[in-house]
Amino acid sequence: MTPIAAQDIRLMEKAGQLAAQTLAHVGRFVKAGITTDELNRICHDFTLSNKAIPAPLGYHGFPKSLCTSVNACICHGVPDDTKLKDGDIINVDVTVIKDGYHGDTSSMFFVGDVSDKAKDLCDAAQNAMMRGIEEVGPGATTGDIGFAINKYVTKRGFWVVREIGGHGIGKVFHDDPWVPSYGKKGKGEKLKPWICLTVEPMLNETAAPIKEFSIPNSSIKWYETGDKTLSAQYEHTVLVTDSGHQVLTLV
Ligand code: MF3
Ligand code: CO
Ligand code: CO
Repeated sequence: MTPIAAQDIRLMEKAGQLAAQTLAHVGRFVKAGITTDELNRICHDFTLSNKAIPAPLGYHGFPKSLCTSVNACICHGVPDDTKLKDGDIINVDVTVIKDGYHGDTSSMFFVGDVSDKAKDLCDAAQNAMMRGIEEVGPGATTGDIGFAINKYVTKRGFWVVREIGGHGIGKVFHDDPWVPSYGKKGKGEKLKPWICLTVEPMLNETAAPIKEFSIPNSSIKWYETGDKTLSAQYEHTVLVTDSGHQVLTLV
């Protein structure tokens, strides 16, 4: 949990902004018929053309420049030659390294017409992320964030993924603190001013235990719902300020 040096806050802001722009750029190409490998290429080229590095590529052996998690895939989906089809929902998760700092953000995209259930799950995931972000400030705890997320998700009739969560971020991709999507008020780690963290709840339609899969030549795992029902996630990188917070991954 290393605070960002005062003179480097601007760099962290720039990294967040570029991650958001990259995500928006890739999102414009999401449509039936495109492959997730094509989205990977678009992300890769856009990142390089903005003088930045796609953080996932080679990270613990991860083979691609972003994660694409379709339908039942919870996170860390590896782009491949599968074509998106009408009715799919996809999480696109972009992380860039710009001038040594990481910006990490993800969003759901709809392929053509999707079911009301899918829309409801995605809406709940986005709002759950915002409920978590509202808790972020100096002196708040990771438990406060997780409590707010889980309370909201339960009210919406969905389930949070407990095994995977948000993380500190800055010069390092995944730093402490760990930011679970459940917890108890006042528990967990206390947030200090000028650290950055991600809030990235994953919501499942059902309580089915999640399944973990390995990625060849990588220690990163990808995850799927145990019963192949839908999962959704949104992610922002957030700066803890001296009085509250600032969402960095906005365009
Ligand atoms: N962007 C993911 C996160 O939000 C991490 C992806 S790591 C990778 O933490 F290796 F799978 F790319
Ligand atoms: Co993240
Ligand atoms: Co991410």
